[in-house]
This record gives sequence, structure tokens and C-alpha cells, in this order.
Amino acid sequence: MWYKYITSILNYQIYFQKKYFEKVAEKFGTYQVSFIYLHHQIKSISKMKNLQTLERAEQNVLIQQYILKNYKQLDTYEMANKLGIEPFRVAGNKAYLKRSNQIGEGEKTHQWSAYTTKAREKKKEASIEVAEPKKRGRKPKDDKNTYKNETGANKAIAREKMANIIIKSGVQGIVPTLPNTNWAIELMIEKSVKGNSFLGVERNPLTFKKMRTNLKQLRKNNELSGETHLGNIAEVIFGKNENSYAHLILDYCGNLVTIRKELEYAIQNNVMAVGGVMAVTFAKPIRGIDAESLKLLDLAVENNTDSRCASDKAIEAYFQKITGFTHKVVEFFYYQDTYPMTLVLIKRIK
Ligand SMILES: C[S@@+](CC[C@H](N)C(=O)[O-])C[C@H]1O[C@@H](n2cnc3c(N)ncnc32)[C@H](O)[C@@H]1O
Repeated sequence: MWYKYITSILNYQIYFQKKYFEKVAEKFGTYQVSFIYLHHQIKSISKMKNLQTLERAEQNVLIQQYILKNYKQLDTYEMANKLGIEPFRVAGNKAYLKRSNQIGEGEKTHQWSAYTTKAREKKKEASIEVAEPKKRGRKPKDDKNTYKNETGANKAIAREKMANIIIKSGVQGIVPTLPNTNWAIELMIEKSVKGNSFLGVERNPLTFKKMRTNLKQLRKNNELSGETHLGNIAEVIFGKNENSYAHLILDYCGNLVTIRKELEYAIQNNVMAVGGVMAVTFAKPIRGIDAESLKLLDLAVENNTDSRCASDKAIEAYFQKITGFTHKVVEFFYYQDTYPMTLVLIKRIK
């Protein structure tokens, strides 16, 4: 009974809102009203889940109409600014329109230099967990690692999740990992189960040195067994055969688009043993900056009746797609100490 009462109140509210917008439309034209209406909806109904899922599809239709009318005069960021929404929402809808051949020639593209300078300044201020992009052609001035979240409370929870699933798996062997200098996850595992040999990989030379020194000490004290490799972790994944490793601890700090190829290789080639675990962490936001990100955001647009943010949907749709029948996603864990991060726990089941 009570829900019928609430539904009728909501219906009244929507009826009067629509009447109000019709009046404004008479004065200013329907197009402007669509967007006043859109903003109003985004702000006012964010807590009503059922309504929000309906409205989100409606918002996408309006955004798409706006893109079709303006893509030659305005770039993604200018459109997002004008509509007062996040650029990824414009980018995702634009990708959908391109894929369905509704956008033709003459698209206005963004001038990146101004944006990236601004974005970098912002990034420095926030001191985030994500590594700076590599500068092409010359060495970075200082060799400092940009990983800043070693002591984060939620990072500690993510570490526990990674260690626990590996401890419970009953599978032991060689485990490539990104331990930074602390070997924290690896020590947690070793305390509970012996029989793993960790291959610590690091691409930053200074961090690598400290990581190796720490491992020597740990080996001396019989606390951990393992080796080290200076370079990209992709180097120890590509080209590996079936059952090469027990687990993969891929505690990255960058973006999904830059790591996806090695993840896909490891899964498609069954590089881990049956029962083995792949633990992956990466930055949660997927921004529609390049073609690869747009491809991922496309997965979210396809699934646009879901009310969560586009990055969550794209991440979950992507991992469900690449795991197929041989692997299974056990958990998605979203956490934030300094910057929003995602942990995905995957198991090989066949
Ligand atoms: C998030 S930190 C690891 C954190 C550590 N596992 C912990 O529990 O505190 C990631 C480390 O791996 C390094 N790294 C990130 N991506 C890499 C890659 N593709 N290849 C090699 N090293 C990488 C970074 O420089 C950083 O030191």
C-alpha cells in the first residue's frame, strides 16, 4: 500500500515539473528547456534509483541530440562545459554516435596542449596514486616514484583481499608481482603459506634498487623467497605459455587502457595455473581521451540502463567480456585514499 502512495506522489511531482517546463518552453523554446530539464533531473532525482535509471537513458538521448547538432562547431570539452556535465559523458555518447555512423566528417577536435597543462597542474596538487605519463624522447628530470599511497587505510584493505584469496587458493609456484619497495602483500602471503617464489618487477630504477636491497635482507632472515627484474611487468607476461605461473599480483597504479593488452594475453593463454589468481589494481576513472578509452566507455554506453557511473560499468563489462569461460571475476572492490582506484580479483577456473 505504502509504495502505491509514494508512486502517486512522485507522479504528481513529475506532472507539475513537466507543466512548469512546458511554460518555460513557450517563452524560450523547447531546445533550451530540454537542457534546463536535464540539469534539473540530474540534481533533483539522484537518490531515486528507479527514476534515475529511466532518466539516465533520457539524458543520453538529449546529449546525443546536442552532439549531432554541435559536433562541427564544438569539441567534447566545450560541449561538456556548455551542458555542465562531465566530458566522459559527451565522449561516451559521441563514441556511440560514431559507431552507429550518425556522425560524419568535420568533427571539431580538442586542442590538447592547453588542457594537458591544466590537467598536469591539477594532478600535482592532488598528489595522486597514478604515475605521471612518460615524456617521450628524453629522460625524466627526477627519478622519484609517484606511488604515494603506501600507508592508505583502504590500500591496506585491498592488500588483505589480494593476500587472502591467494592464501585460500591452495596453488603455489612462481608469482610475478609489483611490490614497490615494501613487499607487503608478499609478506602477508608468506606468513600463511610457504612454497611461493615471488618475482618482484619494477620499472623505476631507484625504486628497483631499494626493492632489491629489501629483498636481500628478507631472504637473509628467511622471511621471503624470490627474485627481481628491472623493467616492465608486461615483459614477464607476453610470450609465456600455459601454467607458467601460480598467480599474478598486478598492483598497478596507472590506467586500465595502458595495461589491458597484458591482462588479455595472460587470460587468453592461461598463463596462470587452474585455481590461480590474478589480482589487478588500477585507477578507476576512464576518461574519453583516446580511442582506446572511448572503446571502453562504449561498453558502458551499451549498458546505459544501469545507474552507476560510466567507469564502473565499463570496467565491469570489460572484465566480464575478457574472462570468458576459463576465468571468473570473484570481486570488484572500489577504494579511495588519495585517488579512486579499482581492485579486480580474477580466478582461473578451467
Ligand atoms: C601501486 S605500486 C605497488 C604497491 C605495493 N604492491 C604495495 O602493496 O604497497 C606499483 C609499483 O609498480 C611500479 N609499476 C607500475 N606499473 C608497472 C609496470 N607496468 N611494470 C613495472 N613496474 C610498474 C610502480 O613504479 C610502483 O612502484
